[in-house]
Amino acid sequence: MRIVLVDQKGVEQALEAAEGWRVMEIIREHGFEVGGLCGGACACATCHVEVHAEWAGKLHPANDDEEAMLDEVPVLSPTSRLSCQIIYTEDLNGLAVKLVANG
Ligand code: FES
Repeated sequence: MRIVLVDQKGVEQALEAAEGWRVMEIIREHGFEVGGLCGGACACATCHVEVHAEWAGKLHPANDDEEAMLDEVPVLSPTSRLSCQIIYTEDLNGLAVKLVANG
């Protein structure tokens, strides 16, 4: 199972993913700079990613806490999510997300 990551330079790569992991953790485990300062507590927004439009509607909607943190990110897109709030499942095999500058 995999996710597809587009890094800040626009380079796309497939990353092995494990069920039950947060997408933020999967990205970080592969050595990419994804922030994650609060460890997945939905309290920092440094793990902000843009979900590919094709996948955005397949994810559970952001809850109020995630929406509130997304309001803090410098540049918000219609498919912005906090990657720590997306728990990877086999249904998400091939999930495509893009790293964005969060600082
Ligand atoms: S790691 Fe802090 S909000 Fe996602």
